Amino acid sequence: MAACRICNNHYQEFISFGQMPIANGFLLPENFEQEYYFEMKVGFCTHCSMVQLLEQPDRELMFHEDYAFFSSLSQGQTIHFEKLANRLIKDYLCETDPFAVEIGSNDGIMLQNLAAAGIRHLGVEPSENVAEIARGKGINTICSFFDEELATRIIEQHGHADTISSANVICHIPYIHSVLAGVKKLLKQEGVFIFEDPYLGDIVEKVSYDQIYDEHVFYFSATSVKNMIAQHDLELFDVEHLDVHGGSMRYFIARRGSHQVTEKVRTLLANEKALGLELHETYQQLRRNIEHSRDQLVEILEKVKLEQGSPVVAYGATSKSTTVLNYCGIGPELIDFISDTTPIKQNKFSPGMHIPVKSPEDLEKKQPDYILLFAWNHMQEIMNKEAQYNARNGKWIVYVPEVKVI
Ligand code: SAH
Ligand code: TMP
Ligand code: ZN
Repeated sequence: MAACRICNNHYQEFISFGQMPIANGFLLPENFEQEYYFEMKVGFCTHCSMVQLLEQPDRELMFHEDYAFFSSLSQGQTIHFEKLANRLIKDYLCETDPFAVEIGSNDGIMLQNLAAAGIRHLGVEPSENVAEIARGKGINTICSFFDEELATRIIEQHGHADTISSANVICHIPYIHSVLAGVKKLLKQEGVFIFEDPYLGDIVEKVSYDQIYDEHVFYFSATSVKNMIAQHDLELFDVEHLDVHGGSMRYFIARRGSHQVTEKVRTLLANEKALGLELHETYQQLRRNIEHSRDQLVEILEKVKLEQGSPVVAYGATSKSTTVLNYCGIGPELIDFISDTTPIKQNKFSPGMHIPVKSPEDLEKKQPDYILLFAWNHMQEIMNKEAQYNARNGKWIVYVPEVKVI
């Protein structure tokens, strides 16, 4: 039993993934012994419908000057955020001298577009290394964690904001009520708060349990978001389902009564009811589906690697892969190495299971028969890039929405 971070009622876990290391904590052998672990348990609050981690490591263990996630490494995401910036400019930043704030702006993937359009902007990014890259591109960035206190400081220095946007960040923040109080203070009267995060409905439907890892403390649905923001007298006025990150939802939020609530919001809330996102049983079934997915993936890898003796390389040392590897107990005996384009992950080892991470050139040299696709959310981009591997009949092992070899 734990106290819900949203409504303070008691809620219970529905699954434990066992001991988990820091998802983005790629490390060297000399640090294996001191590696940090926590028990990763997920629970559902029947009162406010929020799905959340029972425990989360301290934020400084996850977001720091060696943060390993660089948003701009993905071409797909670069285009995605260019579109978002254009949408903000067209619909919400059209008054004179508008001001846009982004929470968790990383290397400036979204704000670079607003900066190029000459729009007054501010990125809030606690991980110093990525914040520094953004500054190098001429993007105004403060290296801090966003909360109510920081919002007050931003108002003093820059005034109120027309838009506050945030992608793949709000679900990371356990002190969410401080963030929402800060958002409300910082927004102009008609201002909008737009955030997107992996969508609970997709996780349930696709059994994409690898979205669950240390950084993601919340797994949002429109239902739980609506309940959460109601405490701050904020209203969900529009929603947009997105294909990125394996299925995300963008939530449009404003002061209650300031924007017309669209039909899409009502439809989505009704769909969530039909999908059972408010029911305890749904998560019991999700647990059974996750266990089944784990057993099938291990079976395929054991067959391919141990019985057939075929080399297996994994594609993308994603944060998500840390959950799969550690929960399924997949180590170097089943996977030769993980190929990844991120320089600071290369020549290190994966968190917990200690599989070597190498470069795409090493993958090219290895010419394996099987590749386990961890970066499945970038499938299209990867299939285009790996046309040669496909042409020589290389096989892909995938596990979302179901475990299979293609
Ligand atoms: N928005 C980018 C980055 C997402 S990664 C994208 O979608 O690609 C999550 C980012 O949130 C990290 O860069 C991390 O440093 C940042 N972050 C974590 N907690 C935060 C907080 N309280 N305030 C602002 N940013 C935060
Ligand atoms: P993400 O799933 O959190 O976006 O992380 C994707 C990871 O996969 C990141 O470490 C970069 C890596 N990657 C590759 O190695 N090759 C690729 O073609 C793509 C798209 C990602
Ligand atoms: Zn609750």
